[in-house]
Amino acid sequence: MIINPDDLTVKENYKLMTGSILPRPIALVSTVSKDGIFNIAPFSYFSGICSNPPTICFSPARKAQGTMKKDTQVNIEDTGVFVVNMTTVSMREAMDICSRPFPPEVDEFKESGFTPVDSVKIAAPRIKESPIQYECELRQVIPVGREAAGGSFLVIGEIVMFHVADELIENYRIDMEKLQPLARLAGNTYCGLGEIIYG
Ligand SMILES: Cc1cc2nc3c(=O)[nH]c(=O)nc-3n(C[C@H](O)[C@H](O)[C@H](O)COP(=O)(O)O)c2cc1C
Repeated sequence: MIINPDDLTVKENYKLMTGSILPRPIALVSTVSKDGIFNIAPFSYFSGICSNPPTICFSPARKAQGTMKKDTQVNIEDTGVFVVNMTTVSMREAMDICSRPFPPEVDEFKESGFTPVDSVKIAAPRIKESPIQYECELRQVIPVGREAAGGSFLVIGEIVMFHVADELIENYRIDMEKLQPLARLAGNTYCGLGEIIYG
């Protein structure tokens, strides 16, 4: 089958991409608003993009209403900082609560039961239950696609501090079996590490 994206709805294009770009790691992004309210949201359009300096990106989509920006992006643009907390299998249910469309005045730490801990270099809080956290400073926000719901932004941030649970790290190698990362598949499906193929 060949498919021209111009003939599809936004949702159909989304389904083709999220059903074939997988498994995707989940950045659980924690931020603080300019009024001091904490926020958490998961993003699976997420990747590392540079090691010098260590840099990541993720992509919050536009919303239909209001500023058309998700709370995470509003907070990052207001404060210039955010934390990427890696999501593990045991964090799935609480992570899912953080994905609900709460208004900006709701603190997702309270809703999900995750525990906020101070960062070392930045104002945004880290999530204690996540064994790997990156403190990030905003470098660039690039609008992508249409200025309508489903259009998007690319948020690029430099990692200014790594936090890794002691039991996971040796000589800068992460023990991925101990980490038990959670990955998103299509729709509401997820997977763990599964079979590891040694190349
Ligand atoms: C596993 C998972 C991955 C998600 N990935 C993305 C993503 O990459 N981009 C996006 O815009 N929304 C994504 N979402 C939806 C957001 O988490 C959701 O819109 C959230 O309410 C945004 O919160 P905020 O307004 O507090 O930033 C994802 C949801 C889940 C459950």
